[in-house]
Amino acid sequence: MWHFCYNTSMRLDKLLANSGYGTRSEVKEFLRKGRVMIDGEVIRDPGYSVTEEMSFRITLDGEEVKGSEYLYFCLNKPDGYLTAMSDDRLPCVGDLLPSQLKTKKISPVGRLDYHTTGVLLLTNDGELSHRLTSPKWHREKVYLVTYTGDDLTEKEVALFQKGMTLCEKGHAPEKLKSAKLELLPGKQCRLTLTEGKTHQVKRMLAATGRSVELLHRESIGTLKLKDDQLPGEMYALSEEDIRLLKEE
Ligand code: URA
Repeated sequence: MWHFCYNTSMRLDKLLANSGYGTRSEVKEFLRKGRVMIDGEVIRDPGYSVTEEMSFRITLDGEEVKGSEYLYFCLNKPDGYLTAMSDDRLPCVGDLLPSQLKTKKISPVGRLDYHTTGVLLLTNDGELSHRLTSPKWHREKVYLVTYTGDDLTEKEVALFQKGMTLCEKGHAPEKLKSAKLELLPGKQCRLTLTEGKTHQVKRMLAATGRSVELLHRESIGTLKLKDDQLPGEMYALSEEDIRLLKEE
């Protein structure tokens, strides 16, 4: 089922950089100076291939290197899965992780509803996860929505653009940020949000008298699915993907 398998070996310079020992060029420099040893042997080659088990026998200036490798995956969440790592009753995204990753403390960043499909970031990088779910984070999340009810019109485009206020029974009014609504044929629309309130898309559509029939997240910032990525499949983010996500 996997397109892009998690590789259990990685370059020594990448492992050290990912574990917080410096940038790739700083790491290359201290490797060149002979400060890194594996099993007591000086290793100067930045491309030296390290397996997970070996990382516990690496030293930098005589101190053991803690291989706290962060992992990042983009899952195409399938319909009918909870955004959780485990559940007694229902299928959940944690079930889709291959067994060698189950011990890596990976968890989903944010939440998609049980029936929502599409981009879901999974990582064990707690700091990034915290940053991406913070209300201060204004990354665009793009949703493709199939709805029921009357066709959406320019009236809703303007309403969402202005920043609507949700007035729901039993709740204080909630002012939303400006959102971009693109009208598509066949009872579909594309909605771009910069915040992530609970069930936000459904609540916005409900406020206009429509209901969401199908919901698919196309992207989070620069993070997208691969063209041929089927539901249930995930790929490991490249260094460039990670850099962009952190930078945005
Ligand atoms: N908004 C929703 O209503 N549901 C989701 O799963 C994501 C955004």
